[in-house]
Order: sequence, then structure tokens, then C-alpha cells
Amino acid sequence: MKSTALILAGGQGTRMKSALPKVLHPVAGKPMIVRIIESCRKADVNDIRVIVGHGQNLVKTVLEPLAIHTYVQINQLGTADAVKSADLDSIEDIVIIMNGDHPLISAQEIKNFISDFREQKLDVAVVTVELAEPGEFGRIIRNSNKQLVSIVEAKDASAETLKVKEINTGIYVAKAEVLQKYIPLIQNNNSKKEFYLTDLIDLGLKDGLKVQVLLSNNVDVAHGVNNQVELARATKKVFTQYANKLMEGGVIMIDPATCYIEESVIVGSGSVIYPNVFLRGKTAIGAFSVIESNCMISNSVIGDSVQIKAGSYIDEVIVKNNASVGPYARLRPETIIGESAHVGNFVEMKKVNFGKKSKAGHLTYLGDAEIGEEVNIGCGTITCNYSADKKKYKTVIGDRVFVGSNTQFVAPVTVGNDVLIASGTTVTKAIPDGALALSRTPQVNKEGYAQKLMKKTES
Ligand code: UD1
Ligand code: CA
Repeated sequence: MKSTALILAGGQGTRMKSALPKVLHPVAGKPMIVRIIESCRKADVNDIRVIVGHGQNLVKTVLEPLAIHTYVQINQLGTADAVKSADLDSIEDIVIIMNGDHPLISAQEIKNFISDFREQKLDVAVVTVELAEPGEFGRIIRNSNKQLVSIVEAKDASAETLKVKEINTGIYVAKAEVLQKYIPLIQNNNSKKEFYLTDLIDLGLKDGLKVQVLLSNNVDVAHGVNNQVELARATKKVFTQYANKLMEGGVIMIDPATCYIEESVIVGSGSVIYPNVFLRGKTAIGAFSVIESNCMISNSVIGDSVQIKAGSYIDEVIVKNNASVGPYARLRPETIIGESAHVGNFVEMKKVNFGKKSKAGHLTYLGDAEIGEEVNIGCGTITCNYSADKKKYKTVIGDRVFVGSNTQFVAPVTVGNDVLIASGTTVTKAIPDGALALSRTPQVNKEGYAQKLMKKTES
């Protein structure tokens, strides 16, 4: 048995007041349209056709890598015209039609609609919900036997009809042959001069087809995103759902309402997430780790029993077990923090392999560097990796090296094992194993000068 999804995504989304096509706006880090596609795939709907119009080039660049077929609706002549654009003759069996701006539809719901449709052996069905405030939605009209009679658009509805609470969600299920036969027959004789997909229901009923309502009890199914406020609401909903799921799995969240953890992120049980934490992309956090407030972590792997202290910004980094980072550390892409290592406050690293049990406690920049195990990086250490020739050069430091405070490594430079570097040294050439390196201007003490000079300025 085959099923096809038609996702209508050609509308302009004027009320978003945004240059980005509406369906590309992200809900909790993922474009709306991608969410719907993922739900379809999870529901085993594998022929997915997206009807594009406004902003079609951008929409296509997002959909092409997902191997999704797009169909262009040249003029926005209404929802039935959009469906017509999707090469209906090449579709078999059952079709589910959805709006591209209803990002909260789940795979389970899609599955249910299709299986209810099959079980009841229907020809066409419309998914409805009951809303306390039905607003601008099309109203579902039933007769005294509760049978579906028609759908009336809010704009075309009488005051009496507007009181109806059951509405058209914009989701339909139909046999492919029904669409092939009836979509071309739909006319645009209504107040908006548009080809209304809702007329499919009227035509089907008139011809004695088996047309029915699939009443859903999840009002989210109806809630599309039409403006930024609704977008933020959808995003909040997804973050809340995912935070609940993480907590069910044993993650400790002090104030989940303030945390933004994308569904692509994994967090191990027993880990503690403080308020105001943002975890994004392909991030994985092990067990019993602590992420303190105001941390932003993207596409990173954080091990077990790791402490990420407040205010740290971490992107494409691996932090191994028992390490501690921050407060206020900035770890940039391609950095690896070894097991039980410590990175303290105001330390920035980029492309650094920082060995096991090594420490960089304060105020340091390390870039393009290999740093061995049990190394101590003193305060104010800098790798001068960027040269006047606009190229990056590497600093390589062995194991058990003690780097005194305020040291500069002028890369490319190599330091052996068990080296001691005196404070204030500018390292410009290789240091062999076991050596003491020091480069300082000798200090001169001029006795009595301080007093003399200070008196001078007083007079
Ligand atoms: C439609 C329904 C209404 C239902 C509501 C649910 C019709 C006539 N009305 O109204 O009964 O309650 O959805 O949300 O169908 N689109 C195109 N091409 C077009 C027009 C629209 O691709 O020419 C797309 C839009 O991008 C959008 C979807 O179709 O994703 C729905 O269109 P919209 O104009 O928003 O329909 P509504 O007026 O909301
Ligand atoms: Ca709409």
C-alpha cells in the first residue's frame, strides 16, 4: 500500500513580515517544512511532494538535499490550484494533503489519519478539530444526522455559521483517483476568486462518494504559524515537550522553562542543566555532567562527569570525561579537551588538542596547538599562530611542561617533554626535552631612585 503526501508551501506568508519564505522559518532550530517532512517519513509516507511558489529557489535549496520532489505553482490561485500543480496523474492509492505551515503535526497523527481512512473505506476525508475560538478557519457544516454537509470559509460564512466550533484543519486524505477526477472540476466562484480545495468535499458529496470527517482531539493539528508570535509559541511548545522527555529520562533540569534544548541533542541521565542553557545541533552530553547557567553549546560531545561552568560558549568541541571548563570559557571548532583537564575563566581555544590532566586556568589564547598531558599553561599565555603572511602556524608542546605566566609562543614552534618555561618568555625557537627556557630583559635596580623621582614630581 502506497501513500503520498502533498504539502502546500506556495503561499507568501505576508504576516510573517520576513524576507525568509514562511515554511523555512525554524521551529526550535528546524525549518517548519522539514519538521513536516520528517513526520511524513516517520509515518512511512515516502512519496512526499512539496508545492512551492513564493521564495521557491530558497525552499528548493533546503529540500533538495532531503531528496524531496518540488512542484511549482506558478500563480497563487488557491489551495485547489496548488494541489493541481503536483502532477496528480502520477500518484497511486492514498494521498494526504497538508499545509506547510503546520509544523506541529506528528508522525503518529499522520499514521492515524491514513489508517482511519483505510479502515472506514472512505473516498475523501477532512481532518477537523473543535476550537473554543474558531476565528478565521473554515467551518464544518453537519446535518441533523451529524453527517458532513460542507465546509464554509469564514469570509463566506453567515453570523450563524461563524458560531460553529468545528473547523477545517486544512488536512485532507483522499484516494488518488478522486483527486484526479475532481480537482480539475473545482471553480473559483467565491468571494476571494480562488480555487478552494474545500470544494472537493462538496463535489464528492454531490456525486455520492464516501466523504467523512476525521475529528482529531489534538488542537495543535489546526494551529498553523502565520506570524512571529505563533512561530515563537510553536518553538516554545517543542522545547517544552523535549525538556519533558529529557527529564523523563533522568536529566535534572532546575528551570526547564528557561532552557532551549533542540531535539537533536542527547543528554545522559543524572546530568544537571542549570537555568538559561542553550544546547544545539548534534550535541551529546554524557551522564552526571553539569552545565551551568548561560552556556551555549553547539555540535559538541561532552563526556561523563564533566563540569561546564557558567557563561561558556562551546562550538564543535569534544570535552572528555571528568574535565572542567569555565566559567567564561570560549572553545572554538576542532578543539579536544582531554580527560580530567581543566580550562578556566577567560580562556579561548581554537583547533587545540589539549592533553589529559593539562590545565589552562586563566586569561589565555591557544590556537592551532597540540598540547601534551599534565601541562600547566600559566596565566596570560598566548600562541601567536597568525603570522604577517596571513597564514596559521602550529605550536606543539610535549608532556609535563610548565609554562610560566605571560609566555608567548611564536608559531611555528616545538617544545619537548618536561620543559620549564620561565614567566614572561617569548618562545621563538624549539626547546629540547628537559630544558629551562627563558628570554627576559635583565632587571636593573637603581637604589634610591624611586624616592628621588617621586620628590621631583611633587615639587
Ligand atoms: C485554508 C482552508 C480553510 C482551513 C484553513 C486551515 C481553503 C479554501 N480553506 O484556509 O478551510 O480552515 O486552511 O489552515 O482551503 N497555498 C498555496 N497556494 C495557493 C494558496 C495557498 O500553496 O495558491 C498554501 C499556503 O502556503 C498554505 C496553505 O496552502 O500553506 C493554506 O493556504 P491559506 O491561503 O493559508 O488557506 P486559509 O485561508 O488559511
Ligand atoms: Ca493559513
